[in-house]
Amino acid sequence: MRPSTLFIPLASLAASLASACDPSTLNTTLYLYPITETGTTVFDVARLTGRGVCDIGRANLMADVTIIPNVGQTLWIPPQVCEPDNTSCLIPDTNRTRTCIYGGPRLYYTVNGDTYDVIARRLNISTAVLLADDNGANYTATSALPVGTFIKVPTCSPSRCVIEPFDFTEGVYLDLARKYGTTVGQIMMLSPTYNYSVSLYEDTGASTPTINMAYNCTALSSNVTALT
Ligand SMILES: *[C@@H]1O[C@H](CO)[C@@H](O)[C@H](O)[C@H]1NC(C)=O
Ligand SMILES: *[C@@H]1O[C@H](CO)[C@@H](O)[C@H](O)[C@H]1NC(C)=O
Ligand SMILES: *[C@@H]1O[C@H](CO)[C@@H](O)[C@H](O)[C@H]1NC(C)=O
Ligand SMILES: *[C@@H]1O[C@H](CO)[C@@H](O)[C@H](O)[C@H]1NC(C)=O
Ligand SMILES: *[C@@H]1O[C@H](CO)[C@@H](O)[C@H](O)[C@H]1NC(C)=O
Ligand SMILES: *[C@@H]1O[C@H](CO)[C@@H](O)[C@H](O)[C@H]1NC(C)=O
Ligand SMILES: *[C@@H]1O[C@H](CO)[C@@H](O)[C@H](O)[C@H]1NC(C)=O
Ligand SMILES: *[C@@H]1O[C@H](CO)[C@@H](O)[C@H](O)[C@H]1NC(C)=O
Repeated sequence: MRPSTLFIPLASLAASLASACDPSTLNTTLYLYPITETGTTVFDVARLTGRGVCDIGRANLMADVTIIPNVGQTLWIPPQVCEPDNTSCLIPDTNRTRTCIYGGPRLYYTVNGDTYDVIARRLNISTAVLLADDNGANYTATSALPVGTFIKVPTCSPSRCVIEPFDFTEGVYLDLARKYGTTVGQIMMLSPTYNYSVSLYEDTGASTPTINMAYNCTALSSNVTALT
């Protein structure tokens, strides 16, 4: 291999990527995209429109881009950009060791596309503790759960969050979770039917959503017990 291909300076790599994109070729139209087929994901919409999935998520104040939109829903498609963001809004898949959430609430309401694995990832707890609470229904970690059912989530004792009303004007829930010390799943639990909002751009006449925020969720002891 030639040394020159081994040591590409980062700055020149960034410059060549930027120069590969001519901003004048981008479609800067902001428009509404209707969901017409069952099972169309936000990832599908991103691919079909050439936008970043996270750019679409944030343009629609989504709870989580992995929630499958409902037919009849419309999504804002933001202007095309040189570097579409497909990653910064995805919850990292780490080895989750917690067996309970800090603070609460108690019940998670399932949405389109949920599995125990997806929910556990949103709550930063091990998938096994949710499976253990399956009550003989025999779902696996990755089998689709029925929409609109409540799932009991183990809560750590002693632990707490501060819960306050919150005006949601920017980002996706992962941005809020990181900023305020909670998890995507807990914010979802506090507003069980909220998925997204088209209120960010004019002509819908809608006001930005008010949700409840769980701030500073923490354990109050180094020895917590999971209450199930
Ligand atoms: C940009 O995309 C919209 C929606 O697909 C389309 O109607 C419009 O013609 C496109 N504009 C350009 C300049 O290609
Ligand atoms: C992000 O997704 C868009 C649309 O699916 C795609 O065109 C683009 O190549 C992706 N960008 C990266 C860096 O993966
Ligand atoms: C998770 O744990 C497995 C097995 O212990 C390990 O192989 C893997 O690298 C870990 N992944 C992360 C992201 O830590
Ligand atoms: C998830 O839990 C681990 C402990 O298992 C902790 O170190 C990490 O900060 C938590 N991450 C989030 C985003 O809450
Ligand atoms: C959010 O999605 C769930 C199912 O995925 C649905 O039951 C609920 O009505 C949706 N909420 C809104 C406001 O569309
Ligand atoms: C779950 O599996 C057990 C053992 O195989 C079986 O007895 C039970 O009927 C199953 N439950 C459902 C809801 O299918
Ligand atoms: C969360 O904790 C931070 C840092 O301790 C503090 O500044 C902030 O006021 C707390 N937020 C709430 C809502 O209690
Ligand atoms: C942790 O708490 C449990 C229940 O309160 C108690 O039984 C156990 O002895 C405690 N463990 C430690 C190491 O303090």
